[in-house]
Amino acid sequence: MSMKNSELFQRARNLMPGGVSSPVRAFKAVGGEPIIISRAEGSRIWDVEGKEYIDFLMSWGPLILGHSHPKVVEAIQQQAQKGLSYGLTNEHEITLAELVVSAMPSVEMVRFVSSGTEATMSAIRLARGYTGRKYVVKFEGCYHGHADSLLVSAGSGVATLGIPGTPGVPEEVASLTFVVPYNDLESLEEVFKKYGEEIACVIVEPVAGNMGVVLPKPGFLEGIRNITRRYGALVICDEVITNFRLSKGGAQALLGRDPDITCMGKIIGGGMPLGAYGGSKEIMTKVAPEGPIYQAGTLSGNPLSMVAGIATLTELFALDPYQRLEELTKRLTSGIGEILSRKGIPHRINHIASMFTVFFTEEEVYDYRSAKRSNLELFAKFFRALLREGVLIPPSQFEAWFLSTAHTEEDIDLALEKIERAVSSL
Ligand SMILES: Cc1ncc(COP(=O)(O)O)c(C=O)c1O
Repeated sequence: MSMKNSELFQRARNLMPGGVSSPVRAFKAVGGEPIIISRAEGSRIWDVEGKEYIDFLMSWGPLILGHSHPKVVEAIQQQAQKGLSYGLTNEHEITLAELVVSAMPSVEMVRFVSSGTEATMSAIRLARGYTGRKYVVKFEGCYHGHADSLLVSAGSGVATLGIPGTPGVPEEVASLTFVVPYNDLESLEEVFKKYGEEIACVIVEPVAGNMGVVLPKPGFLEGIRNITRRYGALVICDEVITNFRLSKGGAQALLGRDPDITCMGKIIGGGMPLGAYGGSKEIMTKVAPEGPIYQAGTLSGNPLSMVAGIATLTELFALDPYQRLEELTKRLTSGIGEILSRKGIPHRINHIASMFTVFFTEEEVYDYRSAKRSNLELFAKFFRALLREGVLIPPSQFEAWFLSTAHTEEDIDLALEKIERAVSSL
């Protein structure tokens, strides 16, 4: 890393905790200095020193059309001339709501917010308000943003009362969240046997992306639906990563489940700050001002985010790129698999649609504990070698790589050449 990046990072560290606005950007898990970005276009991103990277981080998921898609940029530019924020309802909200409702099978009504965290936090409040119950169940290794009740990590063994995952979350708050291993219906059933009448909701990533990509085992999502139904609890499907990523109708269209509340984020805003939660009219009409459950935002329904979302979804639905994206992603994952196998490096690639994770372990990865068997030191070396070659991937083993419609077969083949060189240097 030469001078400019280092100088900027030193200034940043003086001014912002870790020099960043969000922790993983500091590259702590992989070591070395984080890169500071100057611009991005299509499948490429450039740091402040002009070094070019093929980008498989893609801003952690929103950019399914690639960086700075011309139609999205144009929509934002046109809207910017007409006002950045109104604090009152604009026509674009209605258009985007129509697009969302038409695509997501279980969503009849939607509330726009400004991030995925706000979406899940508000969905939890809605579930508690709707059911009049207090407990929440989440799965170990799933991330649902940084709201207090969702930052609770693991109790060991079968589900135990949650412990604070971070200083600043009082035990009393954490104790309202039960944590169960992903893909473990027996543990879920046990928690419900004990506390079922007081459980407001189960929140789940239908495909986990935040312990690396972990797929639901056949019957897992269905099992959650059956158990919650028996006890009158709601299911919150956190589709912040998977909405418009796995299919036009998200995970719920692909995997055929019907959650009560769906959380959205990332792709829905096409790179602008935007989240949403939605569900049936029966449930959503309990949200203020129609119902008593309060939730609000100065910048909610922001017109720039709305037009970026509309342009992104409109283009996405017209392209219907899911099959091509899947094939392109397979080209990359099988290439990486071959490279690692030739080098005799134990690995396991979990893949669905245009997201995947390369785990450095031979064993199956089906929950957080199995994900943690990965060789993190080797991942860190792999990451840094890729970065040197000009390939940007998530700076953590427990994250997903993303492809976009801007990635071409040539990009994939070039990336594989770079990955091959990187791996031979390990
Ligand atoms: C599944 C899931 N839910 C919620 C969030 C929180 O979204 P945000 O970072 O926009 O607050 C994330 C972020 O990565 C996520 O992956």
